[in-house]
Amino acid sequence: MTTLTPVLSKNWDAAKSWTLASYEANGGYAGLRKAITMAPADVVSTVKDSGLRGRGGAGFPTGLKWSFLPAPDGGPRYLVVNADESEPGTCKDIPAMMASPQHLIEGIVITSYAIGCHHAFVYVRGEVVHVYRRLLEAAREAREAGYLGSDILGSGFDLELTIHAGAGAYICGEETALLDSLEGRRGQPRLKPPFPAVAGLYARPTVVNNVESIASVPAIVQGGASWFTSMGTERSAGHGLFSLSGHVTRPGQYEAPLGITLRELLDMAGGVRAGHQLKFWTPGGSSTPMFTAEHLDVPLDYESVGAAKSMLGTRALQIFDETVSVVRAVTLWL
Ligand SMILES: Cc1cc2nc3c(=O)[nH]c(=O)nc-3n(C[C@H](O)[C@H](O)[C@H](O)COP(=O)(O)O)c2cc1C
Repeated sequence: MTTLTPVLSKNWDAAKSWTLASYEANGGYAGLRKAITMAPADVVSTVKDSGLRGRGGAGFPTGLKWSFLPAPDGGPRYLVVNADESEPGTCKDIPAMMASPQHLIEGIVITSYAIGCHHAFVYVRGEVVHVYRRLLEAAREAREAGYLGSDILGSGFDLELTIHAGAGAYICGEETALLDSLEGRRGQPRLKPPFPAVAGLYARPTVVNNVESIASVPAIVQGGASWFTSMGTERSAGHGLFSLSGHVTRPGQYEAPLGITLRELLDMAGGVRAGHQLKFWTPGGSSTPMFTAEHLDVPLDYESVGAAKSMLGTRALQIFDETVSVVRAVTLWL
């Protein structure tokens, strides 16, 4: 399995890929057009059947999370997109939002339609002012084209979108600390239960999902669950962004099926930098137990990485050669 599966990254090299015109020219918003012809519950079922698991680290099934929302009671319910991305080594959501912010916005509209949300939020890491600006402009373009606001594409569905810049704190990536911060308080994790699905933002039912999870929704709706499950493994379906950084010849984002190995990814990335050998690597960011050259053939899916005593996390593959001290790297992370 050495082929890439560019879905989110498909148009990243198109001219001005971040504009609505470029996104539409490459098939953008076809997923939303299809979604609004479906019953919201059928959109939830499609995402459930696809087996999409949260791409923010923990891998919780996305459609199942949506189905935990209590029955509508006439009050608001919210979608909050976690764009805090602060874990050392993790660097997928920021490039995805820079290169194709409309992908995320389309996913937000479809998800909001599916769960009955009329006001969605994106909580962006405060330091990345360039991403914040890009999202603001993308939301403006989407609104002007009728993809946001009232009566979206004549469907009768209304959605407001607020892009919120955090103040820069790693803990605000934890979903309940994020909600406190979004409400204007100091970002500190809440005690659970209640879970956000029951009492989240402003104590209302709330879905919190990662950028990549939500950006994966349009293609799933468009292609169907079986298209998504045709990639990846049985329990870790679909495509994911694998971010190779450190001592690798061609670092960058490699969008590939879950279950690919580091050996296969390194083949595509030109290997460890010339004249050096792999010493250790992280499968999913600095909080995941590190691997060595012994683990080059571990399939990078939730189950196999777990069985090898680490975690898939955010697929932030930080590659270190023999010139790096493990102790020093860990000290820097701490
Ligand atoms: C300390 C800490 C930091 C986290 N940072 C992030 C983050 O930056 N982005 C993110 O999506 N999830 C982060 N998470 C996970 C979120 O709490 C939550 O599980 C996730 O946003 C759910 O989205 P998903 O189901 O789509 O993955 C963090 C968790 C912890 C404990």
